[in-house]
Amino acid sequence: MQAIIVYYSLTGQTAQAAKYIAKGLEAENVDVVISLNAHKATADDLRNKDIVVIGTPVHVGAPAMELRRFLNKLPEDALSGKKVAIFSTFLFWGSDTALNTVEEILRDKGASGDILRMARRTSILRNIWNALTGSTKDEEAWIAFGKLIATS
Ligand SMILES: Cc1cc2nc3c(=O)[nH]c(=O)nc-3n(C[C@H](O)[C@H](O)[C@H](O)COP(=O)(O)O)c2cc1C
Repeated sequence: MQAIIVYYSLTGQTAQAAKYIAKGLEAENVDVVISLNAHKATADDLRNKDIVVIGTPVHVGAPAMELRRFLNKLPEDALSGKKVAIFSTFLFWGSDTALNTVEEILRDKGASGDILRMARRTSILRNIWNALTGSTKDEEAWIAFGKLIATS
């Protein structure tokens, strides 16, 4: 099975989550072909992928504009027949609303069935704390999400 993770990340939090999700997918023998920033992604990149994972930070209660731009440009059947999962990172609030918006667009682009989702509060300070204390809680949670996507 092949997966692609397309995300937008301004300060690196969502990119890091994407990396951990890729680790989880790979642990379940999924080939994660590309994990790239939404600026560079095109509909072509989704072709021949069994699993599509979409990630975004929350920007004022919504998905990042750069990610929406990528999603809105996809043809209407871009996600037909694919397993789809979504995730977000955020600081305070708005991840449900943001992921609902992502899900709505993906449904318009052919996604059907359950769409797994995960959102985690994250910040640079929290990363520093994790590094200082050796906590791997966030990493493990994202890896578990990657495994869940592969096995669900
Ligand atoms: C312009 C802007 C708007 C934001 N709006 C929200 C918000 O509405 N709710 C929230 O919880 N976090 C908000 N954040 C914080 C980011 O969602 C959070 O820091 C996220 O983890 C950043 O991901 P990134 O490092 O991948 O860019 C905002 C950040 C920026 C730059």
